[in-house]
Amino acid sequence: MARKLAEAVPPAPASIEALLAAQAGQDLLRFITCGSVDDGKSTLIGRLLWESRQLFDDQVAALHSESKRFGTQGDQLDFALLVDGLAAEREQGITIDVAYRFFASARRRYIVADTPGHEQYTRNMATAASTADAALLLVDARAGMLTQTRRHAMLASLLGVRHVLLVVNKMDLVGFDADRFNAIREAFEAFAAPLGFASIGAIPVSALGGDNITERSMRSAWYHGPTLIGYLESVDVARDAGSRLVFPVQWVNRPNADFRGFSGTVAAGTVRVGDPVRVTASGQQATVAEIVTMDASLPHAEAGDAVTLRLDREIDVSRGDVLARADSPLDSSDQFEATLIWLHDEAGLIGRRYELKLAAQWRGASLTAIKHRIDVNTQAHEPARQLQLNDIAVCNVACSRALACAPYAESKALGAFILVDRHSHATVAAGMIRHSLRRAANVHRQALQINRAAREQLNGHAGRVVWFTGLSGSGKSTLANALEVELHARGLRTYILDGDNVRQGLNRDLGFTDADRVENIRRIAEVAKLMLDAGLVVITAFISPFERERDMAREVIGSEHFIEVYVDTPLAVCEQRDVKGLYRKARAGKIPNMTGINSPYEAPLNPDFVADGTSGDIAARIMPIADRVHGTPSSDSP
Ligand code: ADX
Repeated sequence: MARKLAEAVPPAPASIEALLAAQAGQDLLRFITCGSVDDGKSTLIGRLLWESRQLFDDQVAALHSESKRFGTQGDQLDFALLVDGLAAEREQGITIDVAYRFFASARRRYIVADTPGHEQYTRNMATAASTADAALLLVDARAGMLTQTRRHAMLASLLGVRHVLLVVNKMDLVGFDADRFNAIREAFEAFAAPLGFASIGAIPVSALGGDNITERSMRSAWYHGPTLIGYLESVDVARDAGSRLVFPVQWVNRPNADFRGFSGTVAAGTVRVGDPVRVTASGQQATVAEIVTMDASLPHAEAGDAVTLRLDREIDVSRGDVLARADSPLDSSDQFEATLIWLHDEAGLIGRRYELKLAAQWRGASLTAIKHRIDVNTQAHEPARQLQLNDIAVCNVACSRALACAPYAESKALGAFILVDRHSHATVAAGMIRHSLRRAANVHRQALQINRAAREQLNGHAGRVVWFTGLSGSGKSTLANALEVELHARGLRTYILDGDNVRQGLNRDLGFTDADRVENIRRIAEVAKLMLDAGLVVITAFISPFERERDMAREVIGSEHFIEVYVDTPLAVCEQRDVKGLYRKARAGKIPNMTGINSPYEAPLNPDFVADGTSGDIAARIMPIADRVHGTPSSDSP
């Protein structure tokens, strides 16, 4: 029964949202509610739905009977049942996902995005806040502001929410104490003042008792501000109407030879038939000939409309291209400074490659610097070497290729992005661009006359990178050395990059934390790429414990030039050899991050060669590798 009741509250399919928005025009207020477990958020939203008389008769009847059966409020109605009626959910004491709910008061319609309080659901809050006009932060009057309240205020500000209201709930439990309320309000105002909101407010309420929700409560005669509904009715909704057209192409629609259209959702601005448009990446231009939807052709389309654009001539447009008006073209960049909110348990590391999605554009991307982390409680800037769950930090981000983008303050459509893990496909961060880095525009690749092909021709053989990976003591250096001797004897130009040696020079500043190992491999991949460009056969011998960074190396170098060799020696054997005495030290607790002991090694799933690191015959193991390097010239070699 409880389940049925919850389902009776309408969900928020995009079409209903669009309909509401169209009907209500400017009189629509979107807001989010944020709180922690047990601060009474569900009761508050239930109360708003109830007092706005938006419930159907059967919902009201059900609420009466459900409250008797399942409610927590004795003979009274339990409004929380309207919102999170799912029994299992209530047992766990947490609410999952963002839920959109609709209601109206005399003056306005509302879409409220209810985001759960649990720390790990910051992501939902980020999703919901990006379209909200106001944020209601709920606190329990007994507890006051929590770290989470501060984090939510900060996120709301970063995501461009203009108004923030602290709803101090459960005032009945502190006897409607004015001093208590004022202390919480003052602390909140002091915290939120530097965050740049258009307005900051606080209201004392009891969601359970209905105090200061629609009617001013006699129990807080000392309070002279608006009721909650009064606040929601009067908060100003200003939307930037005149923003530039942003149309990210989600797919190229080609049902038959006569029709070719570009489908997507208008992310910002307006597009009309007859408008000249420009492809941001290529600069090609055409004119909009037709705006097609499922039902009809339209004269124009606006932000939020899903349409297919047909152009007056054939130009190259593919998925992920962004169309703009030719007379207000979009900027593009491949490096920017951004504020990141880290959303994943696994730490965010400088140099690790992620997939970045901005509008419909996907790029490989990595953090090149963490400028500072922001302490949520004090807003102080602190140094950080990596990003942990819920961290908010200012970072530099570099993309594999330029994309259409803009500062978030100018365009939510082109300024907000997410980072996705390449292996698990989990969203690991949400980001807001602060500004593009000028160096991106000021550094241009220099065309050189002598290229790799010319150098390879002079050398008489193709360049290659042979990438050895395996545990410390597995035999990488021994095999790499033997391979180089063999190749040298065959007249090939070679060079070895070896972990222990490189770490005494170029990478002297790096240790063995995950972050440092990622940076170690990133630099080696770049150096190997340069040496490959010089026409050499480069042999690398690094533990390179993480699959993601080996993939990155393969990508940077080019998979056609890259040969991965896994030196497969069991940990027990490496430990027994213990040439450098490191395993012994690690077992004695003297080395904190020893690979295989207390730092992970991810064996390659698909190496080009597996070399058994335990058998004695070295020649037998390196010959096939030497033959591959020597024997099969690459397709692009001279
Ligand atoms: S990697 O993990 O970043 O690829 P790299 O190959 O450069 O490591 O360096 C590994 C070498 O450093 C090992 O062969 C060993 O001699 C030495 N070393 C020192 N401390 C550690 C440690 N904590 N874990 C692994 N190797 C270590």
